[in-house]
Amino acid sequence: MKETCSLAASVLEYIRPKVVSGISTLELNDLCHQYIVAHGATPSPLNYHGFPKSICTSLNEVICHGIPNSKVHAKEGDILNLDITTYYKGFHGDTNKTFCIGQVRPEVQRLVDVTYYCLREGIKTVRPGSHVGDIGARIEEIAHSYNYTVVQEYCGHGIGRQFHEEPQILHFGKKGTGPELRTGMTFTIEPMINMGARDCKVLSDNWTVVTQDGKWSAQFEHTIVVTEAGFEILTLRGDEEVNFTAIPK
Ligand code: MF3
Ligand code: CO
Ligand code: CO
Repeated sequence: MKETCSLAASVLEYIRPKVVSGISTLELNDLCHQYIVAHGATPSPLNYHGFPKSICTSLNEVICHGIPNSKVHAKEGDILNLDITTYYKGFHGDTNKTFCIGQVRPEVQRLVDVTYYCLREGIKTVRPGSHVGDIGARIEEIAHSYNYTVVQEYCGHGIGRQFHEEPQILHFGKKGTGPELRTGMTFTIEPMINMGARDCKVLSDNWTVVTQDGKWSAQFEHTIVVTEAGFEILTLRGDEEVNFTAIPK
């Protein structure tokens, strides 16, 4: 798990300088695909339940599962989530990040910053003996305090030999509810936070999930392991703090 997760994290580090105005989401897909296979791994999304590409690319009002497309280009002011899952030596590692293309509107930057804050604070609830519901309760509390909403139809998940395993990690809920966490469990936390209403719909391609009201949505995802001390973030990148304490400005 450590190896596949650090490879997945390294894909986001590799692609970061290339996520600029003008690039198409298909070009980003192809670069990530080549990087992943060059490192002896396989992109888990490719052909997963029929998904046609190697990464998910979700722009602006797309909540998740956007399909890379040569006609969709990032442009200044956009937000673009790249979701990377690698399969390496029999294990999956899953991580995503919302990139800002150039300068984005202050309200959009706020959404992105708060979404990352939700992820990091959700992670901080994790320790042996805590409950899955503690994670969602914390995320929901923060999102609502900024007047954002939390997508309920998609969630984090156990991960390991399979891409999606039990338990489901909801990004809302009640403290003390749901399965108890135990040392060694590996799962993702991946809150999708909306500026408008939480409601979503799936486009006719049967994959792309968008907000019903067309307002923008952001997401961040890490794969973590429960440790005796609490947790370890297996997909942590070099540009992230190990001990995240406050919302970035
Ligand atoms: N990586 C996504 C997740 O975080 C799942 C993508 S499924 C796909 O769980 F088929 F769209 F690739
Ligand atoms: Co995931
Ligand atoms: Co993912």
